[in-house]
Amino acid sequence: MTAVDKGRAEGPAQRAQPSSAAATSGDRRNVNAGAYPARRPAAVRLEHVTHRFGTFTALEDVSLEVMPGEFVTLLGQSGSGKSTMLRIIAGLTTPSEGRIFIDGRDVSDAPTQRRGIGFVFQNYALFPHLTVFENIAYPLRIRAMKGPELQRRVEKVLARINLLGFGDRYAAQLSGGQQQRVAVARALVYEPSVLLMDEPLGALDRKLRKHMQIELRQLQQDLHISCIYVTHDQEEALTMSDRIAVMRAGRILQIGDPVTVYRHPVSSFVADFVGSTNLFDCRVREVLGDGSVLLETAGRIAIRAPTFPGVAAGRACHVAVRPEFVRIGEGAVEIAFAARVEKVTFVGNVVDIRCALTSGELVSVEVAGNRKDLVAVGDQVRIGWDGADMGLFPAP
Ligand SMILES: Nc1ncnc2c1ncn2[C@@H]1O[C@H](COP(=O)(O)OP(=O)(O)OP(=O)(O)O)[C@@H](O)[C@H]1O
Ligand SMILES: [Mg+2]
Repeated sequence: MTAVDKGRAEGPAQRAQPSSAAATSGDRRNVNAGAYPARRPAAVRLEHVTHRFGTFTALEDVSLEVMPGEFVTLLGQSGSGKSTMLRIIAGLTTPSEGRIFIDGRDVSDAPTQRRGIGFVFQNYALFPHLTVFENIAYPLRIRAMKGPELQRRVEKVLARINLLGFGDRYAAQLSGGQQQRVAVARALVYEPSVLLMDEPLGALDRKLRKHMQIELRQLQQDLHISCIYVTHDQEEALTMSDRIAVMRAGRILQIGDPVTVYRHPVSSFVADFVGSTNLFDCRVREVLGDGSVLLETAGRIAIRAPTFPGVAAGRACHVAVRPEFVRIGEGAVEIAFAARVEKVTFVGNVVDIRCALTSGELVSVEVAGNRKDLVAVGDQVRIGWDGADMGLFPAP
């Protein structure tokens, strides 16, 4: 562990909020709140980091705290600034504005090798002319380590990634998953306190990818290493993370644990990006006296919903409901519609049923794969959902 700069050590009360979005995210399992000894600094802290490439702003006023042992994922579309953020933390890019702290120490002006960071790059590449052993030993050699200590360290991580006995092979003699593990071992060998991983599983097929997700997460937990992980795969983010930071156009839109981000997205963008969702463009038709409002979809279907801040007749908003929360032809639901089945798609573990409301607006319904014969194309059905399963977002 690097020494803590006492002048800057601070308790939770003085800490910057992880982001302004976090304060409103309803993050119920906020790991920043009291879960750690008061004087223990964040493993990584970004304070108001902005980065511009010329006139283009790639990161805009990003603040984030990652606690010791925490696994935080940056999730966002291509170009949203994920790699830029990792490179700034690693010291490979100097931000236009803002400060970076690692273990409480201001490292904003420190070079990469003084930051105590391991980095697995996007499109990681092993050195093809070096053996597995020498690939892993490389970060130690450039730090002038050699002899028995180097041998011991490399063998320790080789054992950790289950590749003991593979030390003499070259990268081309390894499978994709094995190469990926060597890349992780190379980042871990000098025992950094923070591990940064940029789409490390991007090149792997789905099955191996799922296997490696579990392995990587286990390794991270066993070593109790703090990790910032980048992916644009929402399922990967949901499976692996303690918290997910959803990014868009250089900003963190929401940060929270996977359940909170999935169940309580702060905007229709997050609802749509994390998981799939049915989104309806609506207007407020009438504000009712009982704390509810009557909305009207673009196709003039009425939906009753709880009122929201800034509500007014005519106000535009979005209603979001996930396909797995839409019920079809069963039991009573609070909000129900007549619909016609347009398409039934068997996806294996689930069946995707596309229904059209009388307005022509489409609604996706997802049921378990073993209910494949529940409905057929052309069936007239009733579909609906409960108010608690619906998100309502005022249009910006
Ligand atoms: N060296 C550079 N010069 C100019 N613009 C850059 C540079 N590096 C990145 N950018 C731009 O900054 C934005 C953020 O890039 P970044 O690599 O951080 O995205 P990303 O979220 O990692 O995307 P991906 O998922 O495709 O890897 C992009 O619009 C990119 O074109
Ligand atoms: Mg990237």
